[in-house]
Amino acid sequence: LNGVAERLQVIQGDAFDALKQLAQDKRRFGVVVIDPPALIKRKKDHAEGSLAYRRLAEAGLKLVPQGGILIMCSCSHHLSAIELLELMQRAAARLGRRLLVLKTLAQSPDHPILASMPETAYLKGFLTLVD
Ligand SMILES: C[S@@+](CC[C@H](N)C(=O)[O-])C[C@H]1O[C@@H](n2cnc3c(N)ncnc32)[C@H](O)[C@@H]1O
Repeated sequence: LNGVAERLQVIQGDAFDALKQLAQDKRRFGVVVIDPPALIKRKKDHAEGSLAYRRLAEAGLKLVPQGGILIMCSCSHHLSAIELLELMQRAAARLGRRLLVLKTLAQSPDHPILASMPETAYLKGFLTLVD
């Protein structure tokens, strides 16, 4: 619709496999956005879901050259913003990379937070410069 089809390559697949394949193919991207569905749906899934977020962050980071941008988001109510940042940091540390947070992301006005319902504040993300 936007007339950019010739400038795009669309890959459809499971994110874990597709990211791994891209890294094996030595592909690099100036901007990588990781915006998965809620990987922690229930409190008891926190450990397993956090690991999945960390693995995704690590897989995404492998595709970002020095000076590139990694954006990672979470819509899991059970993962706080600081926990998201911590696991992005853990992923970076495992790869010997450094992340500089350029922008903290949160939900826009079309997703208003009901003050009486903390669980309505669930969208969060970080835009980071990768060293
Ligand atoms: C939070 S939404 C992303 C929204 C997207 N950033 C946008 O602006 O339209 C999460 C997306 O991940 C897709 N998804 C779920 N599991 C996936 C998987 N294993 N691999 C790749 N994509 C997956 C879902 O179908 C959904 O479209």
